[in-house]
Amino acid sequence: MTDTKHSPGAAAADRVLIFDTTLRDGEQSPGATMTHEEKLEIAALLDEMGVDIIEAGFPIASIGDFEAVAAISRVAKSATICGLARANPTDIDRAWEAVRHAPKGRIHTFIGTSPTHRDITHLDKDAMADRIHETVTHARNLTDDVQWSPMDATRTERDYLCRVVEIAIKAGATTINIPDTVGYTAPKESAELIAMLIDRVPGADEITFATHCHNDLGMATANALAAVEAGARQIECTINGLGERAGNTALEEVVMALKVRGDIMPFTTGIDTRRIMAASRLVSAVSGFPVQYNKAIVGKNAFAHESGIHQDGVLKNAETFEIMRPEDIGLNATNLVLGKHSGRAALRAKLAELGYEMSDNQLGDVFVRFKALADRKKEVYDEDLIALMTESATDHAHDHIRVKHLKVVCGTEAPQSADLTLTIGEEERQIATTGDGPVDAAFNAIKQIYPHEARLQLYQVHAVTEGTDAQATVSVRLEEDGRIATGQSSDTDTVVASVKAYVNALNRLLVRRQKTRPADEAAPTAP
Ligand code: KIV
Ligand code: ZN
Repeated sequence: MTDTKHSPGAAAADRVLIFDTTLRDGEQSPGATMTHEEKLEIAALLDEMGVDIIEAGFPIASIGDFEAVAAISRVAKSATICGLARANPTDIDRAWEAVRHAPKGRIHTFIGTSPTHRDITHLDKDAMADRIHETVTHARNLTDDVQWSPMDATRTERDYLCRVVEIAIKAGATTINIPDTVGYTAPKESAELIAMLIDRVPGADEITFATHCHNDLGMATANALAAVEAGARQIECTINGLGERAGNTALEEVVMALKVRGDIMPFTTGIDTRRIMAASRLVSAVSGFPVQYNKAIVGKNAFAHESGIHQDGVLKNAETFEIMRPEDIGLNATNLVLGKHSGRAALRAKLAELGYEMSDNQLGDVFVRFKALADRKKEVYDEDLIALMTESATDHAHDHIRVKHLKVVCGTEAPQSADLTLTIGEEERQIATTGDGPVDAAFNAIKQIYPHEARLQLYQVHAVTEGTDAQATVSVRLEEDGRIATGQSSDTDTVVASVKAYVNALNRLLVRRQKTRPADEAAPTAP
């Protein structure tokens, strides 16, 4: 097994910066809205795990985005905090206002340079070149850490790309990011593009090239690594590959690829890979986007060996079928079961093994929930604890709508009914109603207590472990006027989990509504 701390190429290894954009490009994923507190929690974890630059948001987009970026800037420890801005002084000033309190703040300004984007912005090549010069100069007058991106770079004419990159460097950009905005490129081309820029653009050796790939053709990780081999030294990525459409390059994939294959890709990152699972779970919990079972590195099955031959091989020698150790990404090798007689110390040790470090206060809270679960479920497995921690990651204290009480009647005799009490703000409202099955009855009750136009787009139930006492994790996606929000919840009672997931999605929709309230109507659509 590759112990990458001592990988063959490590001595000569170049450092690659990890730029995480989960809170900006990731949050643009339809339905992945995060609250202010959740963004702070994710940023703190990214900072702790060694992410070099955190793109914390798009400050001009809404007051909420601005406040989140500003708050993250104030508490950042070692990561550089970056704010996104379009190519105009108002956006750039707003981004700087949000990141200026960070120990290290960065402005990231961009403009679409491909023919299609020039058409949309009604700028010809010369006018766009002038705009780039003016805006990068403007940003550079505010800070000496300026990143510039020619959006849709991979579909921009090569000569024009060289021209605008040169202008941005001359105007003071210190990082040039090359986005494959629509996930169009392939590894060979991704490498050639970076190599060409380094070769042709004067001043290219004085700045850092970054690669920013989208996964529309499933090549985002390969494209990013190819760009690094050609000379890029910053990878832009998101946890779990979260992002618009098919998502962005996944942080865990590029980091582990560089770690495991240091022999052929001699590059290091500053990431403490043992925090990867915790980051993956947190992002999945707060975005409401479940991680697919066979997702590389962080999927439930990534280290599971089902076939007899594989199991036998792994038991005799883990290297037979494993190229990395589960503990390298923060997964423990054992699955010791806890139960209602387990104490705080056992719970703390088990949670630490799973990558959750917590204060005494936090532990006290989780312990109460653990005991409640253990009372209902004889054996509590790792997966149960992860579901419990995922549930706690979603901070319900600030929710406008909360579930107070639910009782359903189901069985062979229709109609099935639900008696539900919700707390809306400070007020309690109760209703009893019927439906086509207990879940339908409960959802009808929510709609009657809190009338809304949102449409149910997705309702999904997964069993966390095996057995009839297993917890169910439910995902609910709602859509209202083009806004999408996803909620998730787990409980041994599937109907309770369903109602909580629905209410969770509804609360997220309220956050989305606030973000696009009339005062912000001039706010941009996401790039
Ligand atoms: O994909 C893209 O082009 C972007 C830019 C804003 C960098 O996210
Ligand atoms: Zn992007």
